Amino acid sequence: MQKISGKSDVYAIIGYPVKHSFSPLMHNSAFEALNIDAVYVPFEIAPEDLEKAVIGMKLIGIKGFNVTIPHKEEVVKYLDILDETAINAGAVNVVKNENGKLTGFNSDGAGLLRSLKLQFGFDPKGKSCIIAGAGGAARGAVAALASAGISKITILNRTRSKSEKLIEFIQSKFSELEMVSEDYPFLDSCKKIEADLFINTTSLGMHGEEIPNLNLSLFDKNCIVYDMVYSKNKTPLLISAEKNLLRNANGLGMLAGQGEIAFKIWRKVEPTEGLMLKVLG
Ligand code: ATR
Repeated sequence: MQKISGKSDVYAIIGYPVKHSFSPLMHNSAFEALNIDAVYVPFEIAPEDLEKAVIGMKLIGIKGFNVTIPHKEEVVKYLDILDETAINAGAVNVVKNENGKLTGFNSDGAGLLRSLKLQFGFDPKGKSCIIAGAGGAARGAVAALASAGISKITILNRTRSKSEKLIEFIQSKFSELEMVSEDYPFLDSCKKIEADLFINTTSLGMHGEEIPNLNLSLFDKNCIVYDMVYSKNKTPLLISAEKNLLRNANGLGMLAGQGEIAFKIWRKVEPTEGLMLKVLG
């Protein structure tokens, strides 16, 4: 473990809960590997304390922090500057503190793109994608895919009003992008589903739950199935993808990707290649 000195820089993650987070492991390993005098710590912050916590971050000179569930959207109003990635996603997962000015970024979407490129050589330009879920995680993914030139996104969500709200938000920024809202029966109601990518952004699968009506045998054989969930056991989604011989991955690559991008934002250098993913394994 690296030694902490009076000059050490302090980084953090705020969430509620936060105990499950792998970010301290990823960032402390990267600091150690590069011999950087810095430490990364978790803080559990209840929603009603978020504003005070953000003010506290400035006051005690935290150099940067990650923001996780449930604060990613709420934290936006307490920051001084928003990077384009945060504006497009309407959510922040990385904050940089420069002389008391807090800038918010979103590295979740770019982490997803990095993982898709690294694991499958996938380039979203001109492609089509189906996304299950319309919450904060979906927002980051949709904004990054839109920025990278994807042609069509179908949002599948339990609550249709939420998918419509997300579509309205994204299309106000990316007017040329085709976006459609569907309910889960759509997955089992067509003869063939044409999509280059299917992403689960919901928590379904974390405890073995299935995605309703999912029939992957209807999917195009080249479709990549990406599950943002990263549980110890394979999710029913990934088991089904394997049965149907579809390329697939869990969310660990994205988790490492967003961490690598956050690290670069804070320290201006990339962490050792592959290290963050390795420590997660
Ligand atoms: P996150 O920031 O992780 O995306 P979120 O904003 O709470 O979390 O969004 C969770 C998403 O998963 C939502 O789209 C939610 O659907 P609703 O909009 O209908 O709430 C979806 N989700 C969560 N549990 C679900 C379940 N049991 N069945 C179907 N969808 C579910």
